[in-house]
Parts: sequence; C-alpha cells; structure tokens
Amino acid sequence: MPDTPGHRIHTLRLGPMDNLVYVLEDRTTHHAAVVDPAWDADAIMDCVGRNGLTLTDILLTHSHTDHINALEPLRARAQLRVHLTAAEAEAWGHAPGDAILHRDGDTFHLGGTPIHVLHTPGHNPGGACYLVGDDLITGDTLFVYGCGRCDLPGGDPRALYASLQRLKDTLPSRTRIHPGHDYGVEPSTTLEQQIQGNPFLRFEDPEAFVHYRMEVHDRVRSGPYGPEPAPAG
Ligand SMILES: [Fe+2]
Repeated sequence: MPDTPGHRIHTLRLGPMDNLVYVLEDRTTHHAAVVDPAWDADAIMDCVGRNGLTLTDILLTHSHTDHINALEPLRARAQLRVHLTAAEAEAWGHAPGDAILHRDGDTFHLGGTPIHVLHTPGHNPGGACYLVGDDLITGDTLFVYGCGRCDLPGGDPRALYASLQRLKDTLPSRTRIHPGHDYGVEPSTTLEQQIQGNPFLRFEDPEAFVHYRMEVHDRVRSGPYGPEPAPAG
C-alpha cells in the first residue's frame, strides 16, 4: 500500500488473468477512483467501503475486456466520471457517452490529488498511463520485467517501443510502477529496477525491439517474469 502525502493506492488482484485493479484514494477528501474496473464489482466496492471512501471516478488504461468488464456494474451503482484517452475511445467505439476523453499531457484531479495522463500507445492505440506523484499506473504498457503484447488488433510494437523509451527517459528512476497484470515476481516495482532488469527497456534499436517482442520473447521466457541479466559486453 504505497503512501505519499496526498494519495494512497489499494491493490486488488482479481479474475482468471491475474489482473491488478487499483483503488486510488485521495487522502484529503476520501474520494476514490478505480483504475481498470474488472472481474468483481463487489470486491472493488468492498475495498472502497472498508476504507471509508466515496467512489467518484473510473480511470481506464485501455478498453480490453479484462480491464473493463466491471465498468457497467459499477456505473449502475453510482454516478461516476469515466476517464480514458480520446484515441482509445475511438479505437473501442463503445466508450460511455459522458466519458471524459483525454489527450497526452492532460491533468485532472481526484479531490486534491492531481493525475497526469500519458498517452502510451503500442499495446492498444489509446493506451494510457496515469502518473500520481511518484506512482505510475501502467496498464498493459509496462509490466514487472515484461511489457504488453502487440499482436492483438490495434497493437503496434514500434509505438510500444517509443512509449517505453519515453517512460524510461522522462520519469524519475524512483517512480513506482503499478502494472495491469501480476505477471512478475512481485506485483509492483520501481522504474530503476526495470531499467536494470527488464529486457524490453534495453533496446536502442526499435527494429531489434520489434523482433524480440513479436518473434522471440514468448518462446524464450515464461512467467513469473524476473530480472534478466544484461548481455555480456
Ligand atoms: Fe490489454
């Protein structure tokens, strides 16, 4: 349960695909946002209630069903603001009509907590990461010692390379990564640990990344993913 002065993140591991669903708490107003509501609306609402929170917002990293299949059950219970990127709404075609559509660089607030939107395409055209203080919720863009696949409709490995390089090059190494699936040896990590041990962050040539992502990785590694030693030399 990472703490910074303004917010707190509660992590739920739900469903048959090891999804990580986050309840983001603004510690001043006790308002809460659910990131990627999926699999078990009751478990999500239990977490909200147990912590004395009021659910006000839903943040989507992308629209794959394993990240959104509790969206409508939650919307049926409360008036909620739904956030996603305009690019993902367009790719999905089923975003709620009253959803708030973001562009890269947008900032919005949960109570007193600012949330920054990074548009990180590659796994999906409109993939988003949400930066809250030193916490980065990455969806299926970056996993613990892994990254999202690019072979589904809308996937683009060159775009994912650029998105991962951007995270690596622009965020502080202390940034704590909260991925969309619990596929690694631990549920969260730091950007520093990933720069050291995540093979997807080592490539300087985008075409080499594309080859490794699309042709090599799934044959040579299996979960849970841990740090890979850097190649000699
Ligand atoms: Fe996905």
